[in-house]
Amino acid sequence: MRALTWQGKRDVRVETVPDPRIEDPTDIVVRITSTGICGSDLHLYEVLGPYLDPGDILGHEPMGVVEEVGPEVTSLVPGDRVVIPFNVSCGDCFMCGQGLQSQCETTQVRERGTGAALFGYTKLYGQVPGGQAELMRVPFGDRLPIKVPHGPADDRFVYLSDVLPTAWQAVEYAAIPPGGSVTVLGLGPIGAMAARIARHRGAGLVVGVDLVNARLTRAAEHGATGLDLRRHGKGLGDAIRDLTDGRGTDAVIDAVGMEAHGAPMAKTAQHAVGLLPDALAERLMETAGMDRLAALRVAIDVVRRGGTISVSGVYGGAADPLPMLTLFDKQIQLRMGQANVRRWVDDILPLLTDEDPLGVDAFATHRLPLEEGPQAYKTFQEKQDGMIKTLLIP
Ligand SMILES: NC(=O)c1ccc[n+]([C@@H]2O[C@H](COP(=O)([O-])OP(=O)(O)OC[C@H]3O[C@@H](n4cnc5c(N)ncnc54)[C@H](O)[C@@H]3O)[C@@H](O)[C@H]2O)c1
Ligand SMILES: [Zn+2]
Ligand SMILES: [Zn+2]
Repeated sequence: MRALTWQGKRDVRVETVPDPRIEDPTDIVVRITSTGICGSDLHLYEVLGPYLDPGDILGHEPMGVVEEVGPEVTSLVPGDRVVIPFNVSCGDCFMCGQGLQSQCETTQVRERGTGAALFGYTKLYGQVPGGQAELMRVPFGDRLPIKVPHGPADDRFVYLSDVLPTAWQAVEYAAIPPGGSVTVLGLGPIGAMAARIARHRGAGLVVGVDLVNARLTRAAEHGATGLDLRRHGKGLGDAIRDLTDGRGTDAVIDAVGMEAHGAPMAKTAQHAVGLLPDALAERLMETAGMDRLAALRVAIDVVRRGGTISVSGVYGGAADPLPMLTLFDKQIQLRMGQANVRRWVDDILPLLTDEDPLGVDAFATHRLPLEEGPQAYKTFQEKQDGMIKTLLIP
């Protein structure tokens, strides 16, 4: 089959690789019909090289049609239409039972000290082959796939794999009071969808912050008050306080993560790590503070006293100092984590209708053949061509 593989920093290629097969009696194999490129894939493209091997298949936002089922799978048959959550979660363990599928105890990557394995996401998360491919092996065939009806285009359902549950969890964790206010930092797919969900669930004011025109415009079209980081810079906190009686918003959602603009020192350091041998680079990334907390620092500044910060953006590293005094003094609640995809599906499915309140049908800015994946990664990273969300079509 054809699959998009990681080869090196800013080097992904579509190659011919062996077809996946049923390995465990509860596995299924899915023929992928649409598969998203995520902001998290950009971390693989740029800084997470030490945790990848050339040839690793990327992608964790796939959907398609069941091609084959293992002998113990009872709830799916070939031809069923399914979306695959990005967490590899068993559905049966203590953590899955609590709705904490990102911590699944059956797939936790214990030798790395991390949570549930993820599709297409480095040795830190189990080095499981991903879904930017023609075919994909999926374990826990009776528990993990989300069965969806035939009929509507893939766009209607594909974001159940990641964008929708991640954005839903971001809003849930933000605990915005009814009619209250939220600042969403970063208006990529996750921030954009979180802003829509916050509006839909009754937030009175949604402030969206980014530095890309197309992203600011689109968020404004969906009811957010856009603030351009390039214009406000260090004055962003004051601009947000001006909108909220001098207090700051009730909640802040950080949908930026570790590759934030605004931390030039860290950029140099991350670049340097990219040039080191893997073993050294891994140690440095885990211990020496390659993280870039620019967005998180803004979140701490613009949240009102007693408010909540909900972090969806992915961070790494350990040594960057956090302003503990301010966090404590402002009595800020901080919630974060990888989305528990399966947990939110039943809340979201009723919104995936013809009325399309969240605008998923028109959410993708680009639909491209899988073979054009490498160029799409480059365009997405450079934020060119109005690209916000791309679906690759194998
Ligand atoms: N928690 C989860 O389960 C989960 C799931 C999916 C994605 N993510 C993470 O969420 C983040 C966003 O993902 P995405 O797909 O929307 O990616 P993206 O890269 O398209 O979006 C990030 C956006 O942040 C903007 N930005 C950069 N620096 C900023 C700053 N200082 N202030 C405000 N905006 C800034 C960028 O211009 C961009 O629009 C990534 O870190 C990704 O890894 C987490
Ligand atoms: Zn993702
Ligand atoms: Zn589990």
